[in-house]
Parts: sequence; structure tokens; C-alpha cells
Amino acid sequence: MNNFLTVARGAGVNKLSFGDNLDVLRRDVPSASVDLIYLDPPFNSQLSYNLLYKTPLQDGPSGQLRAFKDTWSWEEDAASLALDDIRKRDPELFRVLHALQVLLGESDLMAYLVMMSVRLLELRRVLKQDGTLVLHCDPTASHYLKIILDSIFSGNWFKNEIVWLRNVGRSHSKRRLPSNHDTLLMYGGSSAFWNDAFAFLAYDPDNLTDKTKEKYSDVDRDGRQYQLTSLINPNPDRPNLTYEFLGVTRVWRWTRERMQAAYDAGLIVQTAPGRVPRLKRYLDEQRGIPLGDVWTDIRPLNSQADERIGYPTQKPLALLERIIGLTTREQAVVLDPFCGCGTTIHAAERMGRQWIGIDVSYAAILVIQERLSSRLPNAKYEVDGIPSGEAEARALARLDPYIFQQWAVGRVNGQPRGKGADRGIDGEIIYKSGSRSYGSAIISVKAGQNVSPSMLRDLGHVVERENAQLGIFICLNEPTKEMKIEVQRSPIVEIHGRKRHKLQILTVKDLIDNADLGLKTELGFLQAAQEAKSISRRSQPKTRTPQDLRQQPELPPMAIRGKKAVNQVPLDLGDPLLTAQQPKRHRKA
Ligand SMILES: C[S@@+](CC[C@H](N)C(=O)[O-])C[C@H]1O[C@@H](n2cnc3c(N)ncnc32)[C@H](O)[C@@H]1O
Repeated sequence: MNNFLTVARGAGVNKLSFGDNLDVLRRDVPSASVDLIYLDPPFNSQLSYNLLYKTPLQDGPSGQLRAFKDTWSWEEDAASLALDDIRKRDPELFRVLHALQVLLGESDLMAYLVMMSVRLLELRRVLKQDGTLVLHCDPTASHYLKIILDSIFSGNWFKNEIVWLRNVGRSHSKRRLPSNHDTLLMYGGSSAFWNDAFAFLAYDPDNLTDKTKEKYSDVDRDGRQYQLTSLINPNPDRPNLTYEFLGVTRVWRWTRERMQAAYDAGLIVQTAPGRVPRLKRYLDEQRGIPLGDVWTDIRPLNSQADERIGYPTQKPLALLERIIGLTTREQAVVLDPFCGCGTTIHAAERMGRQWIGIDVSYAAILVIQERLSSRLPNAKYEVDGIPSGEAEARALARLDPYIFQQWAVGRVNGQPRGKGADRGIDGEIIYKSGSRSYGSAIISVKAGQNVSPSMLRDLGHVVERENAQLGIFICLNEPTKEMKIEVQRSPIVEIHGRKRHKLQILTVKDLIDNADLGLKTELGFLQAAQEAKSISRRSQPKTRTPQDLRQQPELPPMAIRGKKAVNQVPLDLGDPLLTAQQPKRHRKA
């Protein structure tokens, strides 16, 4: 999408890339360079996901920004082009896809599978021979994805299908059981790194099975549970380990010195004189219960969870920490090509791994940057694909005006507004005007070459209508004389002791050179998103059979870029999360 925005560089580690992962992988990530790939792509849910954020203004609007869409359609040329590409690069996989196409037709699901296949091929290229790939999906497409992965990696790389209980409290459905698990497909070769220490679940003393309780029935004076185990050597032919200890002669496991040291430490018990001494094994020192392939112990994030960012589909850190712990050593390179709000990055950084995160959503990149600066301020990384010079910013404006608009609003510390009914507002800066009062500046971004004084006048009307203090007009080029006159005509306002015109113009050059408007903003994008909640809109039932999927005419229209707008759910302003504890809006700056 934005492949010209970045000058190709060698693969960097600790790198956040904005863009389509297919482009970024091909351009930036060398073959056999990654130890773990975790991918949590859209699942073909036919939903579009929005990131909600709130402003601190009681009567002010909250916003929503499209985070990403998960709607697929064969009608977009991309699917047939990708299929053709696969035919040339991997005839075996092409045959598999061809068979699936016979079954599924040119359906949405087939388009999704082709989109995934072309990326999975690229991911196989960048994975090291001793690396692991974990694909997070759900039953919507997991069985088809497994067929594809088996073809790409050869069946003997398949390690596990892990079931993660992602949701416990689902409401009852009268027609079928609720769907409350995700599927993680794990692939790795025979030399794949494996850290067994992560393959156990620590015992929970309050939740022991009857068998374990019975086994560890003895309790120390300090409350630690233990069992007594044998110290006798299974090999009777060890003359150097045969000696008398506490009046008992046996072939022991340990040398006399080691036995004595353990006894002095209180670890060896003789329950009565003449009885065979035994060793205390404490429950809290055991590795725990071997982890199976059904994971029920990692809870989904609830609305109160500290780590909750507000990004739709955010996964828990504990899930990623387990996967990273099991499959990588320190300093390993972890890649998440669909990194969302950066859970993999967060976990990898915390665990001393190197990382590469890629996402095509600008909202995701903004959120990750804030997540890292607020939670892991020492993290060092480079960001790729975001304009850092004037030429790149202009190129982005030409290529994707909507992303350009979000970038421009972000540069002045504003909060972007979603696509659609912005009523002349592309973003808003909320700044502190007193100890408990806020002011706001309305932002209007023009990504096109043609701008006129009338656009400034329109902005002036919006500023009046919204009772805001400032109007910021962002455009590509130097304003004309007439536009400057329009600014001069606007009233003077005083904010933070500085007098300025109510209307201001910033060019792309200003945004690159110095975008600081001197407004005391305090609500970052991440915090704003956390205080709202994510929503999604289901545009059709989630569980569909292949037969359903083949019946194209019955499907509701898909969102096709430039042809139909993606449905967005209007904000529910009655939601307590959005309206609670908001300071009063004071319009006077
Ligand atoms: C299910 S979310 C990932 C959530 C993530 N695991 C987390 O914990 O935040 C999927 C992400 O994939 C991104 N995405 C979709 N298509 C993409 C593509 N072609 N390239 C890069 N990212 C993509 C979406 O923008 C979205 O953020």
C-alpha cells in the first residue's frame, strides 16, 4: 500500500512497520531470520472493528476510528492476482487451493484463504529452520487454514492444535452451543527450539486435585505442603553409595556428604528410629501439571484489566508470554505480522526478545507507540512507513487521504475522527485551559491540491457551531494571499497567555518541522481509547457452512474500498464507560 514511503533497509530488529505485511515482509525481512512467528489475523468474521475513544468534555463528542475491517470479497482483484502468484511460486499449494476453490467457489471465504496463503508462504520464507509458527484463528476457518499450513510446511511440522478458552460467560443460544474458544495451530520442525520449563502449570494450592492433595498431605510448620519420597538408589550395584545413614544401611541415591547436607537443611525425615529416612518434596518446588493442548487458565481481558488498551481483539499478555516462553530463547527474533495493539511486541520486549511488528492500521501503530512509551518507556525501536519527511507525507496524501488525515491529526496531538459523519471535523485537540476546565481546537485536513478561502470560512463556522476556541486548517502547500487574509480576519483569542488568531493554517512542512501548537494536551490517544470500549458490528451470522458461502447472492454486500462504506455502529452515548466521570466542559479558554 505504502511501499514507496520507506526506503528499503535490511531487516531491523525491534521494528514497528506500518503497511500491508505482504509488502513489508517482501521488502524488509530476509529469509530464515525469524525464530517465532505469531499471527493473529482477522478471522473472516465479516465484522468491522472500531476503536472508540472519549474526550474529557462532558457534552463533547466521543469518537470512533476504524481500526480494521474483517470483510473479504472475491470481487476484489487481489484474490485472483494472489492465486496466480501462488501458482508460480508453489504449485503444490496452488493445487490445494484449487481443490478448495472447487468446494467453496469464488466466495468470501475463498478470498480470505487466498489472502492468508500468499502471506503464509512469505512467512515460511522468513522462518528459521529451528523456528516455530503459531497461527491464532477460530473455527470460522481453522480447518481450512490447517490444510493450507500442512501443505506449506509439510504435515510433519504440525505440532499442536491448541484450544484456548477465550470466553467463559457466553449467553445461551437456543439453536447451538456458544462459541467460546480460539484455535492456535503450532508448526515447527524437529529441530525447533522448545523450552520445557514453560510446559508446566504451577500448582494452585487452593485448587488441587484430590490425587495431588493426597500425595502432598504433609504440611510443614510454615504451612508448606510436601510429600515424603524415596532416597534409595534404583541400582543396587553401587558399592560407593552403600553406607549407613541414621542407623539404616542401604544403597542411597546420593553420596554421604550430600545426604548429610540435606539432613542438616531439614529435608530428610526419619519418622521413627530404624525406619528408612525419606526426602521431603515440597509442592511449591515442583514443576507443576504438564500443560496440555487445551488452555483454560488464561483469562480473556475484561473491561477492568490493567493491560486492556481498548483495541478490538486485543489478546492477553499471558497468552503471548506462554507462546514466546515455550518456543524461544532470549534475544530470539519474534515477528507478529498482524500485530494489532502490540500484545506480542509488549510480551517480547518484556521477555528480552527482539521483535518485528507489522500492521496495516494507522490506529494500531498509534496505539502501539503510546503503549510502549507508557508501559515500557525504555524500549528502543524504529518505526517504518510513517512519513518522516515532506515528500513522504505528500505521497501518503495522494495514496490514502484518510490515513494522511489521521497522520496529520496525530502530529498536532489531536484525536482523529472516524470516516463518515464528521460534519467538517477531521480531528480535535482537547487541551487543559484551567485546573478543571478544557478547551478544544477543531482540525480540518485537506489532502488535495485545491484549497480555497471558502474552506477556511467553513472551518470558522464549524468552530462557532462547536463552541470551540480554535480552528486548525491543515493543507499541503503554502496558503494563498486570500487564505491568509481569512486568517487575519478571524478574532484574536488568548490561550495559555498567548494571543493568536482563532483560525490557524499549518502546511505539511510545518507538520514535519514543528507541529507544536503550544496547547497543553493531556489525554493521549491510548488513554482515550482505554476509557472507551471497542465495539464491532456483525454484518452477517458468524457460523456459515460452505454451502452458505457458495450462495453469493444471499450474502449482504461486502465493503469494497471506494465503492461502499463499511458499516459503523453509532456511538452509544448512554454507555456508562463513555459518559462516566467526565469533567465539565468549560468553553471559555
Ligand atoms: C485480530 S487483530 C490482532 C490483534 C492483536 N493480536 C492484539 O493482541 O492486539 C488483526 C490485525 O491485523 C491487521 N491487519 C489486517 N490485514 C493486515 C495486513 N494485510 N497487513 C498487516 N496487518 C493487517 C488489522 O489492522 C488488525 O490490527
